[in-house]
Amino acid sequence: MVEKISKNFFLYLSKNKVLNKGAKKWGLKLGASQVVAGTTIHQVIKVVKGLNQKGLVCTVDHLGEFVMNPAEATEATDICVQTLEAIAVSGVNCNLSVKLTQLGLDIDRSLCVNNMLKILEVAKKTNNFVRIDMEDYSHYEQTLEILAELRQSYPNVGTVIQAYFYRAQDDLKNLKGVPLRLVKGAYKESGEVAYQNKEEIDENYLTIIKQHLLTGSYTAIASHDHVIIEKVKQFCKENNIPKTQFEFQMLYGFRADVQEEIVSQGYTMRVYVPFGKDWYGYFMRRLAERPQNVSFALRGLFSK
Ligand code: FDA
Repeated sequence: MVEKISKNFFLYLSKNKVLNKGAKKWGLKLGASQVVAGTTIHQVIKVVKGLNQKGLVCTVDHLGEFVMNPAEATEATDICVQTLEAIAVSGVNCNLSVKLTQLGLDIDRSLCVNNMLKILEVAKKTNNFVRIDMEDYSHYEQTLEILAELRQSYPNVGTVIQAYFYRAQDDLKNLKGVPLRLVKGAYKESGEVAYQNKEEIDENYLTIIKQHLLTGSYTAIASHDHVIIEKVKQFCKENNIPKTQFEFQMLYGFRADVQEEIVSQGYTMRVYVPFGKDWYGYFMRRLAERPQNVSFALRGLFSK
């Protein structure tokens, strides 16, 4: 009960426009620096280098979402392009994750698609991969449509499917061969479209992971849940699915010991490393997922 209230509270805070705006001016506060790798490209590349040295590969995300101003969407696109260039120049093992609402999806679909095309062209030239993070249900359909459009010219783009949606298994049928990240789902969604209880979400999560793996498609299992991870390892062994056909992913600052242990077992572990001034919504969603993470915020408050 307390957990549910806390989850809803942090999800509510994550959408608060005034706090989101204010936080951009504060710099990393409330302990966010433990899960956000700085505000500049230079800082994030440095963090990625350190993670690479431990055998972890990465994907970086320039934080920002629900942008309503074309200039901001263009600025975010430029930063994504510069990030891909910095990845290439520094030689780090790292790809890029993006959010379509940061690139203008809520302003104008064609602006967003053009911004994605600019990013994908640089990714192609630098031999890199771009993952479109999946946002809330109101953007789900459009994201899948845009992905299909982009993949006609750029095979170096993929997206994410969230196991809490009833439709996840059906959607996967149209995504055979597409490199997907599979997750449980981070947004607050209605019971009309999404499972609400943990057992059902976990069950559907394992089902979609197996479904995508069995089609031979490259699959990223993005979860901090050791029970799920062990079940996936077991399933892959039993079905002779090679370690080159899948990877595990976790967020920067979460279960670093488990991340390294998985690497030591010969699996690929990709760390999702967010950076940028727009850290507030991301940080609040992490607090909503796991109330224990509130200790990050409290430590942050008292260590200033
Ligand atoms: P969950 O939170 O369900 O925890 C299950 C169990 O794992 C816990 O009960 C506990 O035992 C253990 N555990 C979890 N976290 C722990 C910790 N920090 N320390 C110790 N034990 C812990 N969502 C989305 O909607 N769109 C997206 O694009 C993405 N992208 C994405 C990328 C990556 C790399 C990750 C890891 C996650 C996402 N997500 C996401 C978020 C995802 O949907 C989900 O909300 C969170 O990962 C939380 O679910 P988990 O599967 O991690 O475990």
